[in-house]
Amino acid sequence: MTSTSRAGTPAGATPAGATPDGTTPAGATPAPPVTDDDLHRWVRVAGRAPSAHNTQPWSPRVVAGTVEVAVVPDRVLAAGDPSFRDLLLSLGAWVESFAIAAAADGRGVHVEPTDRLDRLADLPVRGPADPGAPVLVLHPQAAPYPTPFTPADVRGRRTHRGHLDPAPDLRTDVPPLPAGLALLQVDDAAMRHLVRLGGAWTASRRAVAAELVRWLRLSPAHPRYARDGMTDRMLLLPSPLARLAAPLTRRPALHDAALTAAGIAGRAVEAVGRTRPLPAPPAPDEPLTGPQHLVLVARTPGVRSGTEELDARLGLPPADVVEAGRALQRTWLHAHRAGLAVAPHSEVVDSPHAVAGLRRRLGLRRTQVALAVFSVGRPTAPAPASPRLTDEPV
Ligand SMILES: Cc1cc2nc3c(=O)[nH]c(=O)nc-3n(C[C@H](O)[C@H](O)[C@H](O)COP(=O)(O)O)c2cc1C
Repeated sequence: MTSTSRAGTPAGATPAGATPDGTTPAGATPAPPVTDDDLHRWVRVAGRAPSAHNTQPWSPRVVAGTVEVAVVPDRVLAAGDPSFRDLLLSLGAWVESFAIAAAADGRGVHVEPTDRLDRLADLPVRGPADPGAPVLVLHPQAAPYPTPFTPADVRGRRTHRGHLDPAPDLRTDVPPLPAGLALLQVDDAAMRHLVRLGGAWTASRRAVAAELVRWLRLSPAHPRYARDGMTDRMLLLPSPLARLAAPLTRRPALHDAALTAAGIAGRAVEAVGRTRPLPAPPAPDEPLTGPQHLVLVARTPGVRSGTEELDARLGLPPADVVEAGRALQRTWLHAHRAGLAVAPHSEVVDSPHAVAGLRRRLGLRRTQVALAVFSVGRPTAPAPASPRLTDEPV
């Protein structure tokens, strides 16, 4: 296993009785031990982390003063995320949120990836989490985690799918990224083209589209409306459209017909899009007229590890992708703090045609992997909250 990381209190918030490095000075009262109640509280905050399709693929368990995190096979997107990219990024966002909750109590977290993280392909395709097979073990630490973010930020951050006005370049004051990660900008004209290609790819791959439909919750009558997945409200669907579309997610005959129609339309759009070149790039000093589009890019390690076969799907060690997920969550929380909103567009990194166009536009090297694409801007209306399995009933 490659990397472990330490996460630890917001800047300047040293716990009572501790020095900034977490040791207790002579004569001072040591910080009280972390209790299981504390860990359960941190787990609840972490439950508000973002995940692709709001699958919440993590299964945390408090064991002997640590938190063991297993993956729930039923919550892994078998068709849409075969490289486990989104799973690993979501786990990273969860870990970062957990560390922010620990930081609010003046603590840190040591993250220990287990060898199961390198063997995600051994997971069954279906079923519940295996509690005996965690992929990460989180150990509380006395040394506090320096983060500017709070549990309120984690709870208040939302994905925004409405209109976004232009905003200043997010990258000027974003928290520094770990070595090997970069945020690159793609222009609006190219992004529109790539989003269209990516959307068409999703629609035209029946298994991927069916998986998306499985996570839609288009009516409050859906039994999992307040638990997981993407609701009509989150997707900003007008009520008449949601009422019309809701039966598509529940009645097999309608569902099959809708997937067939989406496949035909998707293939047609894809065929046209693939023959068209990317629009000409804008002049370097041309101001943004819409949201900013950013791509989180990782550099693959120069020397391949002993788990070369297993790393091959993404070309990156899984623990590094978890770290990238932590950085992504910090970036999205930073946008939230700045009054900005984020709209991810994973379809651009899912579709081979869109990825190829993106790589060309950004001039990526073979050693660089685009992990996440998202738009960021000033929202013109608030975004509705998404459900979570771990939310307290209201
Ligand atoms: C790795 C990752 C990929 C995502 N990809 C998309 C996407 O392609 N399109 C989208 O609308 N939302 C995407 N999301 C956002 C999730 O749908 C969202 O986090 C989830 O529904 C919970 O909603 P919230 O972020 O408002 O809490 C992604 C989130 C993560 C962590």
